[in-house]
Amino acid sequence: MERAAGDLLNSKYAIVLTGAGMSTESGIPDFRGPKGIWTTDKEAEAKAYERYGLFLRDPRAYWEEVLGLKGTHGAFYNELKKAQPNAGHYALAELEGLGLLKCVITQNIDGLHRKAGSKNVIEYHGSIHKLRCPLCGLRLDFDTISLEKLPPYCQCGGAMKYDIVHFNEPIPPDVLERAEKEALECDLMLICGTSAVVYPFASLPRSAKLGHNSKAKIIEVNAEPTPLTYDGISDYLIHGKTGEILPQITDVVRNRLCKMR
Ligand code: APR
Repeated sequence: MERAAGDLLNSKYAIVLTGAGMSTESGIPDFRGPKGIWTTDKEAEAKAYERYGLFLRDPRAYWEEVLGLKGTHGAFYNELKKAQPNAGHYALAELEGLGLLKCVITQNIDGLHRKAGSKNVIEYHGSIHKLRCPLCGLRLDFDTISLEKLPPYCQCGGAMKYDIVHFNEPIPPDVLERAEKEALECDLMLICGTSAVVYPFASLPRSAKLGHNSKAKIIEVNAEPTPLTYDGISDYLIHGKTGEILPQITDVVRNRLCKMR
């Protein structure tokens, strides 16, 4: 924690990348961990790979499926909507408030970073709290749209879908561009709670190593090593739970800043 706190304090442009591991301590299962959704329910995973194609073929059937989801995935969506941030989310929001973190790029669709107070958040795989029009890119809050008639239509005439980015769906261009820019800009990248196997998100740490600051320091905080660890992309891995480790790092940073003042 001391080392990571020191690296953060010495950084000029630090960002953080997060995945499902950030939210398991908020009661949301991850995907590929031992109790992960895909690990425990192969059928749900297979259906998830078909969802975008269903939207393109039949937006009404897509909405009937995502709203009527039963079983593991239905429970997952409901958990997401009820969940609250944990100490890990609050620690990252505090580091942003201290001016040490410039941006959060998350794969999580749960909205917990914003709920914890983080401001500059890029939701790389979208949000469960929004709808998006794939034609014009318009995003609207879920609660502002009537779902009496399905599918809901955008003012441009396009059928709207969940803002979530499903498998086989392209990352929206505005999100792709912003995230790539942050990765190329940063001189420190903290990577928390992700298996780093899903692309193009998993290419961001590799971009950071090749970016303007090719000396970008990459620190993983995860319950297990990842391809970033094995491929030597990350400088070091802090092994453990994000909800325990991130508050400890923030404590060290806060104490050192107090002493510096
Ligand atoms: N603290 C630290 N690490 C944790 C914790 C925790 N509390 N809980 C789980 N982990 C680790 C797991 O060991 C695993 O390495 O977090 C990682 C979660 O990896 P995945 O389940 O693969 O989740 P993620 O990397 O976010 O998945 C990427 O895949 O299924 C799609 O769209 C979905 O955004 C998701 C994407």
